[in-house]
Amino acid sequence: MIIAIDGTLASGKGTIARRIAGWYGLPHMDTGRLYRATGVAAMQAGADFEDASALAAIARALDLNDFEETELRTAQAGQAASKVAAVPAVRAALLDLQRAFANQTGGAVLDGRDIGTVVCPQADVKLWIDASVDERARRRWAELQAAGDTITLEAMTEQLKVRDTRDRNRADAPMVQAADAVLIDTTELSIDAAVEKARAAVEAARSQR
Ligand code: DC
Repeated sequence: MIIAIDGTLASGKGTIARRIAGWYGLPHMDTGRLYRATGVAAMQAGADFEDASALAAIARALDLNDFEETELRTAQAGQAASKVAAVPAVRAALLDLQRAFANQTGGAVLDGRDIGTVVCPQADVKLWIDASVDERARRRWAELQAAGDTITLEAMTEQLKVRDTRDRNRADAPMVQAADAVLIDTTELSIDAAVEKARAAVEAARSQR
């Protein structure tokens, strides 16, 4: 069973994906990490963010073990990720890796922006997780605060809007809800309630298979 969980930044999709993977005993890939690692590696190498082939080479050479989780979670890493994610050659370089993970025996859970539309259009279950801009900015800001970042809530809201716009409007694999994805709006939901809704959607899809 392949479960595709896409959605907006700080919508809760990562937490939902981890919990759903745990529940069904499936391996999980956070595909945003691939773009974050590519962005961080590009910054470390002093790469030109306009140079698509240099960025694609960095993506192809990626070893995720080279990165600390904390360095991938910074606001700067998120911005860099959103920039490299708009480069078609980078997306192409990361595609096989994601498809191979999805197609392993027994299936997998992948979360990202384009899993249900591009990486695994044949996924058995597709979820689209979203929440209001203000709520998502507040969540991400609280996370960054806890990690010692001094970014203000206003600046976080602005950054989130910039990233949303870039992710939605890029020409290649734009962030969009797949036509056959189930929408879960987490604005007013606790994590447990959101996971429960996701699980119900997976069960409904399974019973139709
Ligand atoms: O989910 P995240 O914040 O870790 O994602 C980081 C960036 O990577 C985000 O700006 C969108 C991009 N991304 C993407 O384009 N496609 C994916 N499948 C996953 C993430």
